[in-house]
Amino acid sequence: MKTLKQIYILAFFCVGINYAQITTLEVDASQSIAKIQPTMYGIFFEDINFAADGGLYAEMIKNRSFEFDEPLMGWEQPNSDRHSYNNNSGIATIIKYSGDQTNHNYCRITVKDDQGYKIINKGFRGMGIHAKAVYNLSFLAAKTSGNIKELHFKLVGKDKKEIASTSVVVDANDWKKYEAQLTATATAEKATLEITFSGTGEIDMDMISLFPEDTWKQRKNGMRKDLVQLLADMDPGFLRFPGGCIVEGRTLAKRYQWKKTVGPIEDREILVNRWNTEFGHRPTPDYYQSFGIGFFEYFQLAEDMGAEPLPILSCGMACQFNTGELVPMEELDPYVQDALDLIEFANGDVSTPWGKVRSDMGHPEPFNMKYIGVGNEQWGPDYIARYKVFSEAIKKQYPNMIIVSGSGPFPDGDYFEYGMEALKKLNAEIIDEHYYRSPQWFRDNADRYDDYDRNGPKIFAGEYAAQSVAIASPKNENNWECAMSEAAFMTGLERNAEVVQLTSYAPLMAHTEGWQWTPDLIWFNNLTSYGTPNYYVQKLFATNRGTDLMKVTIDGKKIIGQKSLYASVVKDTETNEMIVKVVNTLSEKNTINFKWNGVSVANNATQIVLVSEELSDVNSISKPKNIIPKSKEIKIDAKDGVQLAPYSVNVFKLKIN
Ligand code: AHR
Repeated sequence: MKTLKQIYILAFFCVGINYAQITTLEVDASQSIAKIQPTMYGIFFEDINFAADGGLYAEMIKNRSFEFDEPLMGWEQPNSDRHSYNNNSGIATIIKYSGDQTNHNYCRITVKDDQGYKIINKGFRGMGIHAKAVYNLSFLAAKTSGNIKELHFKLVGKDKKEIASTSVVVDANDWKKYEAQLTATATAEKATLEITFSGTGEIDMDMISLFPEDTWKQRKNGMRKDLVQLLADMDPGFLRFPGGCIVEGRTLAKRYQWKKTVGPIEDREILVNRWNTEFGHRPTPDYYQSFGIGFFEYFQLAEDMGAEPLPILSCGMACQFNTGELVPMEELDPYVQDALDLIEFANGDVSTPWGKVRSDMGHPEPFNMKYIGVGNEQWGPDYIARYKVFSEAIKKQYPNMIIVSGSGPFPDGDYFEYGMEALKKLNAEIIDEHYYRSPQWFRDNADRYDDYDRNGPKIFAGEYAAQSVAIASPKNENNWECAMSEAAFMTGLERNAEVVQLTSYAPLMAHTEGWQWTPDLIWFNNLTSYGTPNYYVQKLFATNRGTDLMKVTIDGKKIIGQKSLYASVVKDTETNEMIVKVVNTLSEKNTINFKWNGVSVANNATQIVLVSEELSDVNSISKPKNIIPKSKEIKIDAKDGVQLAPYSVNVFKLKIN
């Protein structure tokens, strides 16, 4: 039995310990340090890892127009033999014609025995078919000789089971478009499309296409709904497109040319995807760009999500990690003209040539593009010389257009120093910085922007992601340590909202089988998709962006790792809330309290927590919600404070009284 004195001593000791453990975050809400730009958290989209073809673009037929370098890649004829007359089946031949067209191939199918011949498309690592869903089939065909009467289309699922079928009567000798629908009776992740024939003879075929009917916004032949939904749920402030290195191309000839990606789908010239051959350890020989998602679709997607469109264009330099080919300065004009024409395409009146193209595609209203990027990840004096020509030409014609320039691929070192210095001298408006670094680097660099010149160029943290092993290592994972470290770093981006005005994780998406680069924000297979823990970090920051930056300190110092804590505070004048983001990178609980100066807040709050016990934890196709934010209502007690779980990202929302 303890004496009363002993109990008093024990109680005093406990209370004393408790207070000693509480860390006070002092918020000065008396003034707004800076406006948080609506563009603060956005999306970087590049067709890498099957993000567009085989991913967001819902087309299921790979090589639908027979334009790949191997024109029958993706197609199989199990009963045909190139070295035989195929009297018991038939065979496909590629016809390559000349002329002004952009796509020059079609497929001539000779059927000698309609019981023996079939041609199969294998899709993008198969086709994802959902039971009861409807699929829109279309193709172009011309009967050239003989009498092929009917074409039969069959979706074949697991164990070679038929899961949908339809037949189409072909009746024209000239090219004609045919359409039909298939309804699936079962789900299959890796279905194939088999085509068989009634009658014998020759038939020419092109643009054989299959889309789910249920696409994003129900647009015919549009985008995969689940994937766009994940993007829209992030409430992105901008959409950067189309990349990435894909903008530059391995050679100048293979660069991304936006003019070739607009207008009728069948006229968009197919181009090999630069990620096709980039990594010896992840070769993807069947990766091409159909441009089914081209610049019109990117602008439309940005508009759908309420995001600012941010196109990035080639500045006449091929990827410097590859050939680094340069356009001579005296031949730069067509590249500059592409930029000027793009502005006209996006914003010009329908009476202008490029405004008319946009209007003919169904969007007479301008897209109100405000930003344009010159070059992706270029470095050195060659870039600066080209950037100057672009920026002078753009500003001359469009003085209000905001130009995004780049500081190269690394966050430090001589390329970076040189680029930053040169761009500052040229009064660059927004400079894009890229960092693919270790999780530790992200935690150590939460103060990266604290000393940036407030009167200098604004910063676009355009590509970043913590690499669990090493840059571009195929072993990198989207694990909790990476996500949590990015969150710690992002409090530093937010604390410097005066300077940092756009930010985006990269790359955005990856097919679980068709990827080349990891880590990625969103992973998907043919049927389903999930957000990584990194995705939920991005989403938490973006959907709790606030409007005004407030000062927050521990013992008068910015919070960049004291007691393993990282924090930023914003006010949201629209919801009348104070929003605190605190990351606890400690393996143990941390207890905090708030001291509010210049504002009175309610002592109840919403606490959103993203947490996992193990730093190596991940989300996956089978456990997509292993790490997701959870929300609870709490009371903040001045004496006890609030507990932060070990390894946790926390968002507190408190109503302003
Ligand atoms: O995000 C993957 C690549 O990383 C981008 O294409 C490029 O800009 C960077 O090097």
